Amino acid sequence: MNAYLNGQFLPLAEAKVSALDRGFVFGDGVYEVVPVYSKKPFRLDDHLRRLQASLDGIRLASPHATDGWRELILRLIELQDFADQSLYIQVTRGTPVAGQLPRDHAFPKGVPPTVFMFAQPLVTATPAQKAAGVCAVSALDNRWLRCNIKAISLLANILLRQQAVDAGCAETVMLRDGFLTEGAASNIFVVKDGVLLAPPPSNLMLTGITYDVVLELAATHGIPHQVRAISEAEVRTADELWMTSSTKEIMAIVRLDGAPVGAGVPGPLAQQMDGLYQTFKHQVMRA
Ligand code: PDD
Repeated sequence: MNAYLNGQFLPLAEAKVSALDRGFVFGDGVYEVVPVYSKKPFRLDDHLRRLQASLDGIRLASPHATDGWRELILRLIELQDFADQSLYIQVTRGTPVAGQLPRDHAFPKGVPPTVFMFAQPLVTATPAQKAAGVCAVSALDNRWLRCNIKAISLLANILLRQQAVDAGCAETVMLRDGFLTEGAASNIFVVKDGVLLAPPPSNLMLTGITYDVVLELAATHGIPHQVRAISEAEVRTADELWMTSSTKEIMAIVRLDGAPVGAGVPGPLAQQMDGLYQTFKHQVMRA
């Protein structure tokens, strides 16, 4: 597996940063995860736009223009000896230099950001896994109020996701003030009476690239959909519940907190949307 670190392509195991890197000491950085199919990045421009928004959100100047990012990413993809990849990009506020305090909350001056990228094999769900669906638990969303920044400091998300893992489930569905926000590492969709419901983008969630694609496909294919606040009661009485992300794609949640969601099996709209998503993905890859 090959990686990229601060201007160099190198084997992943050889990629090393200082223990004083602000990513390590403070979790002071942002990241992206780009799915790559047959060595072609999916929706790369959207991921790069969101990376820029995250960098803007933490007041860190991007070390590369869009074309520079694209070139580095395409080179890294080519260097891997596997075709379907989950490509990780991380940018931190760098490492303090001589003459600066090793640990100081204030932004260090004149320090280049640390840029680290690597790819691992992307393993998407098998037809059998899709047919089975997954279970989820719910939890109060106790994260900060800037969840639209894809920050590397993921402690709250990790603790929330672990609640699902401890229950033998795949995801934690989060509720804030009685309304659905998102999953610990995914967006959540609800289906009720044939209408696809999605919570509106805000500072309380990360708007997924997959989320955008799902809504585009719903619009293109005439699937009734609404982007609006979704109450806890609507989540608990949903006909279908889905989680979506770059790595999980569209996955039906069939049990929530032990209770069946709808009929307790992946619903017809989840199956339709998964079909549309797979077709769309392959069209894009062939283009
Ligand atoms: N996470 N919300 C959160 C909190 C996420 O962490 C993610 C994705 C999403 C979905 O975004 P997208 O559709 O662009 O992948 C929503 C990635 C996959 C991760 O952290 O590994």
